[in-house]
Amino acid sequence: MRWQGNSDALVLGIETSCDETSAAVVRGGRQILSNVVATQDDLHAVFGGVVPEIASRRHTEVITLITHKALHQAQVSLAEIDLVAATQGPGLIGSLLVGVSAAKGYAAASGIPLVGVNHLKAHVMSNFIAPPGQHPPAQQLFPTVCLLASGGHTSLILMQQFGDCQSLGETRDDAAGEALDKAARLLELGYPGGPAIEQAAAQGDPNAVDLPRPRIEDSYDFSFAGLKTALARQVRETPPQAAQQVADLAASFQQAVVETLIHNLPAAAREHKAEQLIMAGGVAANQLLRRRLFEVGQSQGIPVAFPPLDLCTDNAAMVAAAGYFQAQRQGPSELDMDVFSSLPLLPYDQL
Ligand code: KG4
Ligand code: ZN
Repeated sequence: MRWQGNSDALVLGIETSCDETSAAVVRGGRQILSNVVATQDDLHAVFGGVVPEIASRRHTEVITLITHKALHQAQVSLAEIDLVAATQGPGLIGSLLVGVSAAKGYAAASGIPLVGVNHLKAHVMSNFIAPPGQHPPAQQLFPTVCLLASGGHTSLILMQQFGDCQSLGETRDDAAGEALDKAARLLELGYPGGPAIEQAAAQGDPNAVDLPRPRIEDSYDFSFAGLKTALARQVRETPPQAAQQVADLAASFQQAVVETLIHNLPAAAREHKAEQLIMAGGVAANQLLRRRLFEVGQSQGIPVAFPPLDLCTDNAAMVAAAGYFQAQRQGPSELDMDVFSSLPLLPYDQL
C-alpha cells in the first residue's frame, strides 16, 4: 500500500501497550487533532498493579469506541485517514495484540497503510507535538539530551538532530516508574504508584530518611533496585505507624529517585554539547523532577522542555506522530507485523 507522506497527512494512532486504551488523530506528525485516553486504573488498583489478562480484556471492550471517539473529536472519517500507526512493543503481549489487531482491521478494511511503532520512541516524540495553534514544548535545537523515564524503561537518549536517537545509558535493573510503583505498594499508598508517592510526599520531609543514591561509575546507566531494597529494609525495621511517617518515607524515596534520574544529566549535556534538555515518559509528570530538570538547564545555560502531563503518560497522539516520521523514513509495515514484549532502542536508532 502506498504511503503519501504529505505534510498534512492524517495519522490515526492506537496505543494499548499497558493499561491505557488510547486513540488519536495527528496531522503531519505534529498537530494533535484528538487524543482520547481511557485509563484502567480503577480495575487494577485493587490488585496493586496491572493484571495483564484484565488489561487486554478491557482493551478489547473499549478499543472500537475509543477509536470512533478520536475520529469524531478530530472531525474526520476513517476514509480521510492516510496512515494507521499502532504500538508494536515493548509492552504486555495481550494488550499490544488488541491495539495492533484493531489497527490491522482498520488498515485492511479501508486500504490504508499500517505502521508499527516503538513505544519508547513515541514517548520521546511527545515533546515535538501540540494541538493546532500551539507550539510543541521542545524546540528544534540539537543536540538534545532526553531523559526517558516510564514504568518499564529508564534511559538517557542523545538526539544529534531531529529523528536521531542514540542511547547514552539505561537502567541496569528496575525502571524509575517501577521503583515508584513498588515503593507505593510497600507503603500501601495504592496504584498507580508514582502519583500516589508524589501526593503523599507533598506532606513529608524529603530529608527524614537516609536512602542511598545508587551510582554507576564511568557510565550514564542508572540503577534503582538498591534504593527499593533500602526502603523495604527501612519499612521492615521501623514500620511506619502514623501518616506523617509514611509521608516522610514517600518524600525521601521520591527525592532519591529524582536525584538518581537527574545525576547523569549535567555531565551528559556537557559531554555532548547539548543545546536543550527534554524529558518523556510517565515519571516526567512528576513535579519535583520537572523542577530539578529546570535547575539543571539553568546551571548548564540551556533551555529545558517536557510534555504536558497528559502527553507524559501513555497516549496515542505520540504513537501517531512517531508513526508518521517512521513511515516517511522507511515506509509502512507489513500487514502481518508482529508484537514484541521487549523492543529495546538500538545503540544508534532513529525515531
Ligand atoms: O509512560 P507510562 O504512562 O507507561 C509506561 O510506558 O510504563 O509510565 C507509567 C509510570 C508508572 O510507573 C507511574 O507510577 C509513573 O509513570 N508516573 C509517575 C507520575 N505519574 C505517572 N511517577 C512519578 N510522578 C508522577 N506524577
Ligand atoms: Zn509508556
